[in-house]
Amino acid sequence: PKRNKTIREASRIEYVQLRDYEIKTWYTAPYPEEFNKNKILYICEYCLKYMKSRYVFHRHQLKCSLRHPPGNEIYRDQKVSIWEVDGRENVIYCQSLCLLAKLFLNSKTLYYDVEPFIFYVLTEREDVGGECQFHFVGYFSKEKLTSTDYNLSCILTLPIYQRKGYGHLLVDFSYLLTRREYKWGTPEKPLSDLGLLSYRNYWKIKLCEVIISLKNEILKVQEEGSTFQCSIEDFSNLTGMIPTDVVFALEQLQMLHHYEVKNEIKYALKISDWSLIENIVQSWSSKASCFLRPEKLVWKPMI
Ligand code: ACO
Ligand code: ZN
Repeated sequence: PKRNKTIREASRIEYVQLRDYEIKTWYTAPYPEEFNKNKILYICEYCLKYMKSRYVFHRHQLKCSLRHPPGNEIYRDQKVSIWEVDGRENVIYCQSLCLLAKLFLNSKTLYYDVEPFIFYVLTEREDVGGECQFHFVGYFSKEKLTSTDYNLSCILTLPIYQRKGYGHLLVDFSYLLTRREYKWGTPEKPLSDLGLLSYRNYWKIKLCEVIISLKNEILKVQEEGSTFQCSIEDFSNLTGMIPTDVVFALEQLQMLHHYEVKNEIKYALKISDWSLIENIVQSWSSKASCFLRPEKLVWKPMI
């Protein structure tokens, strides 16, 4: 009945307030009942504590001594930092993080069983009167021990920071960790619509970057009259992407040529237009506000 519907709609978190931003939510999240009834949920961007009223929020802001996420800062480049937060050591923080993410995710995700995961939180630094504030921008989670190829479970950029390249940076970072582990990885399925769009875009750009980095070698070999040899696995090693995703990206770029030799499918890379590849990379670098610098990562794999 109609009446029920209005009641249900009224008892939904419509906005989250972080700092001075009121952010419209996209989906519901299983916050404890008493918090779920509020139209606006107030969240401390440092400890991620969620609160029912503006009054409590203001009191908390005066009291809360954190100015960055818990855990270790393992990456810093100019304003951007990435923090490694262990789900076992910071249970409440990570649960709050998952609940916040659920407000922007349609699919089921984990909220309470956070111990098996590590969380990588991206912040943007601001210096305010001699104090460094590390503003929460987004994060991704990663399972610590897994028998799958998954190198990223869940990713979020807060809507106020979206379409600036932070999602791309987080994904790039997830593959950097995978390469440091001497592995190949892929995001956990199913991907959301936005997840798929972002990954497709990332894979395309990444493959173009790798191909450009090989350009001189490719041209040299061609000048000598031979064929440049590079397998799909070579691309996987250079990017950290599983072969299936490499193939997907090359197909998307219409650069993959299949042929059969003795009932075996072989692949060949066909580059008919270098400027096409260069334009893809250039247009991204003129658009994105930040880029990953692998040399800034201070990190060793856990195992
Ligand atoms: N519409 C169309 N294309 C998009 C959109 C969009 N809304 N968002 C991202 N893309 C594509 C575009 O190609 C974009 O490049 P462009 O801006 O030059 O067009 C590209 O992805 C890169 O975008 P970024 O700015 O790097 O990504 P952003 O910081 O906005 O974060 C993310 C992307 C994390 C998916 C964000 O949209 C988000 O948090 N969504 C809600 C949560 C979610 O769906 N997460 C993924 C779940 S799947 C998983 O976790 C495994
Ligand atoms: Zn706090």
